[in-house]
Amino acid sequence: MFTPSERAIAAGGQPIADLMSRALGNPHLISLAAGFVDQSSLPVETMRVATEKVLGDPQRAQTALQYGENAGLPLFRDLILSRLRQADDLTNHPLTTQNVVVTAGSNQLLNLIAEVLLDPGDIALCAAPSYLVWTGVVKGVGARSLGIATDDQGLIPEALDAELARLESIGELERVKLIYVIPYFDNPRGISMPDARRAAVVEIAQRWSKHHPIHVLSDNAYRELRYRGDDIPDTITHDSMLETVIVAGTFSKSFAPGIRLGYGVLPAHLVGPVTDIKSNIDFGSPCLNQHIMAEVISSGLYDAQVHRVCDNYQHKLQVMLTACDEHLSRIDGVHWVRPDGGLYVWVELPASLDAGSHGELFEVALREGVFYVPGECCFAAEGAPSRPNSMRLSFGVQSPEGIRTGIAALARAIDEVARRQAA
Ligand SMILES: Cc1ncc(COP(=O)(O)O)c(C=O)c1O
Repeated sequence: MFTPSERAIAAGGQPIADLMSRALGNPHLISLAAGFVDQSSLPVETMRVATEKVLGDPQRAQTALQYGENAGLPLFRDLILSRLRQADDLTNHPLTTQNVVVTAGSNQLLNLIAEVLLDPGDIALCAAPSYLVWTGVVKGVGARSLGIATDDQGLIPEALDAELARLESIGELERVKLIYVIPYFDNPRGISMPDARRAAVVEIAQRWSKHHPIHVLSDNAYRELRYRGDDIPDTITHDSMLETVIVAGTFSKSFAPGIRLGYGVLPAHLVGPVTDIKSNIDFGSPCLNQHIMAEVISSGLYDAQVHRVCDNYQHKLQVMLTACDEHLSRIDGVHWVRPDGGLYVWVELPASLDAGSHGELFEVALREGVFYVPGECCFAAEGAPSRPNSMRLSFGVQSPEGIRTGIAALARAIDEVARRQAA
C-alpha cells in the first residue's frame, strides 16, 4: 500500500480544502470566502502592451525566454528596491539589491523561510487570528504555530513579551525561531498595526534573541491596497542593521496573481540559505514574467493599475460595510471591523453562535446561498484560543450586487440559527 511521506501527510487535511470542496458543489452559491482578486479589473490590456514590448525586442525576448538568475532578474530586483525606497525613508539603511530575492508569489517566500528557519518541533509565533495558509506552512515543516492575543490594532506586544517569558520558563525559548506578522490590512481581520507596535515587535524579537536570532517575518501582501488614511512605515524601518526583519511582498493582490511574482527582502545571512533551497526547487522564478513585470513597473503602467484596483475595492468595501449596516446591525451582539484597506471584513457574532465549518450556521448559510471562511480556520493550534463565533468575509471577487445579496443571505442565516436557539 502506498503511504506518502510524513511531509505530504502534514501538508494535507487543511480545513479550507474540505470547506471549498463542500461549497464548490453548488455553483449558485455566493462566495464571500475566497481571497481572490476582482476578475473585471485584472490588467489584461496592460499585460498585452508590456508583453509585446518585451517580445518585440528580439534580444530581450531571447533573454526573457531563457533560464534566469536564481535570486531573480537584477533589473527587476532593482525596481523592487527603488519602490521600497520610495515608500519608506531608508536613507541610512544597509538594504541593497542583494537582499532582494524574487519568488513565485509570496507564498513561495513563506515556504522558503519556513524551510530555512524551522526544524521539526520549532515554534513560530503569529497573531491570533492569522493567515490560514501560513499555519499550514508551519505544520508542513513539522513545526508548531502558536497564536498571540490581538486587539483592534493587531498583535499585542505585551502579550508577545509575556508568551516569550512563559516559553522561557518552561525551557522552550530555544525552540522559538520566528514571529510572523501581517502589519497592513491583515488577513483575516483587515486591521493594521500602528508604527509603535511594529517597532515594539522588532525590539521584543531582538531582546529575546538570547540563544539565536528570532526573526520577524513581515508579510506585506496588502500594503498597496489602501483606500483611506496615510501609509505607515514598514517594519523594516525599525531594523536599522537589517538583521531581524524579513519582508514578504507580492504583486498578486495589487496586480495579478496569475503572474505569480512575489519577493523577499532578507537579512544578508538568510540570502544564501534561501537561494540554496530555491535552487533545489526551480533555479529562479519565471524569467519571462519578471521581464514583463519590470516593463509594467518602469513604464508607469503598474501605478496606474494600483490606482484602478484601489478605486474598485474602495467601492466594494463600502458596499459591504453598508450592507452589514443594513442587514447585520439589527442583530444583537454582531460586530465587524471597518478596515481602511485590504480585501476582508471580519465579523464576530454573539459567543453562543458557532460559525465553524461543522456548526449549524455554516450549513444554514450554504442553504441560503452564501459561503464564508469560518474564523476558526485562522487560529494557530496553540496559544490564544480560537473564536468559533467569527467569520472572514471577502469583498474582492463578488460584484457589488453579489456582495449585497450575500450579506442579506448571511443575515437570514444568522436570524434563523438565533431563532432556533431561542426556541
Ligand atoms: C497574507 C497573505 N500572504 C501571502 C499570500 C500569498 O499570495 P501570493 O502567493 O499570491 O503572493 C496571501 C494570499 O492570499 C495572503 O493573504
